[in-house]
Amino acid sequence: MIEKIKQEIKNEIEKSILMKYESSAPVIVEEPKKASQGDISVPVFTIVKALGKPMPEIVSFVKNVIEESPWATYLEEITPMGGFINLLLKKSSVGKRIVEDFFSEEHFGSSEIGKGKTVCIDYSSPNIAKSFSIGHLRSTIIGHSIGNILEKCGYKIVRINHLGDFGTQFGKIIYAYLNFGDKEAVKQNPVEELAKLYVEFHELAKEQPELEDKAREIFKELEQNNPEYVALWAWFREESLKDYMKVYNLLKVSFDSYHGEAFYNDKMAAVIDELKQKNLLKKDQGAMIVDLGEAYPPALIQKSDGSTLYITRDLSALFYRKNTYHFDKVLYVVGNEQKLHFDQIKKVVDLMGYDFSDQIVHVNFGLVLQDGKKMSTRKGKTVKLEDVLQEAINLSLTYIEEKNPDLENKELTAEKIGVSAVVFNDLKNYRSGDFEFNLTDMVNFSGQTGPYLQYTSVRITSILESVDYHELTAFNPVFFEYDPAFEMLKQISIYKDIIEKSAEEYAPSILAKYLLNMASLFNTYYAKEKINVEDELERNTKCRLIYMVRNVLNDGMRLLGMQPIEKM
Ligand code: ARG
Repeated sequence: MIEKIKQEIKNEIEKSILMKYESSAPVIVEEPKKASQGDISVPVFTIVKALGKPMPEIVSFVKNVIEESPWATYLEEITPMGGFINLLLKKSSVGKRIVEDFFSEEHFGSSEIGKGKTVCIDYSSPNIAKSFSIGHLRSTIIGHSIGNILEKCGYKIVRINHLGDFGTQFGKIIYAYLNFGDKEAVKQNPVEELAKLYVEFHELAKEQPELEDKAREIFKELEQNNPEYVALWAWFREESLKDYMKVYNLLKVSFDSYHGEAFYNDKMAAVIDELKQKNLLKKDQGAMIVDLGEAYPPALIQKSDGSTLYITRDLSALFYRKNTYHFDKVLYVVGNEQKLHFDQIKKVVDLMGYDFSDQIVHVNFGLVLQDGKKMSTRKGKTVKLEDVLQEAINLSLTYIEEKNPDLENKELTAEKIGVSAVVFNDLKNYRSGDFEFNLTDMVNFSGQTGPYLQYTSVRITSILESVDYHELTAFNPVFFEYDPAFEMLKQISIYKDIIEKSAEEYAPSILAKYLLNMASLFNTYYAKEKINVEDELERNTKCRLIYMVRNVLNDGMRLLGMQPIEKM
């Protein structure tokens, strides 16, 4: 709403300048540097300079335009000061309008910037027969949230889990399984057992390098659909996926497509042919490459034994998605370390003569650290993600036992708090940076945490319940003139802008920080203001305000992929 007032005042001034002076001038309408200068400020010197007119003339002209504009009803004071015209908002009228806007919208904060557009999001994408790493967790959390945020902006979203279910490593695992695997053990603990077999293979291959050739041979036959190998591969895939589902169920994440790399096995020939036809494939020591010029190392498309690579499958997936979903954007939520890979893909697409490489976005992210070091191993063992989530859940349960031992459904609530804590801790940081993983900090009920947001929302709900508030009761905007109240309203009114910005930058952290600020505004307000007052109108007005705050908090948390809680 305030953005809108600013925009409209800017338009009015520009229009009037054009009419009176028959020339255009740059008009700035901004938030003043100091709160004492009001809510909105219009520096006039840019106009003075562009028109070459004296300052006093322009000041009184601009002041007059603002006074005459339909937006003047929302202004308390219009004060020229130095080279600025400072505007003070009439808090009650602006507040009233914000409330009306809020309640007139079915889905407050929804935007239409994505209407009619499709975005494919490739995220999570763990590697079959390997454990679900903390990096894949980041991809899952970030990708899921970006999907929700874009959906709120009207985009059609296709959520794709590009499983790493193909590649030479399958030759190794199949070899290991057939020679020293144990069916029952794999059934019991698929991912762990298969990963073990993979490690054992490497140990053995150190002494018997010819095993590498055997593995390559097996993979080649798998590519050519050897039925025994295909059956094993399918079984490994299914069992691994079952394991990953435990994590997805905890996070409440799902996908529209689980087409992994293997899905493209029979679709790569077409891409390779096209590259050939376009004279882009070059033989290099028996392998097939695309030369990418000075900027990047060549893209290796086919090995000398004819087998394909990660990038070959990605190119094929890209064209498949373009032809199937007709995307306007395809996002790859993948760690910083694969930057070169995606740069190479874009370059190949350019060289092929297509014009959509700018629709390909690598939504990159940093590492998860523990005590400053990459969190991938613990005493040489991979950190099991389920264990990490379970630890967060256990810790939440301890906190609940301390604070509210009589709570019903403690286990379920602890699960929601623990998982959401991990989610929020990830998303509050801008994605491309590394961040520290400290469970005790992130599960804390106070501080910049997920539980703090959930706690604030629950607190508001319990206040509303205690006074038996119903949303359609009358309100009086006079009570919004009090600063902390108005501050909250202002924040509510920019919710949609925040969502759009988060969508444009693929940055849930913008929304996460906004929610923290909102929660802290409420807590400051609540520390000072009594809500359950005698006067019914005042009470209902205050309740309406915190009801809005609570709904924005809940909706924002939902977009981040956190889980709603009624009591804690
Ligand atoms: N499976 C890959 C990995 O773990 C990530 C896949 C990302 N998506 C893609 N289309 N390349 O490194």
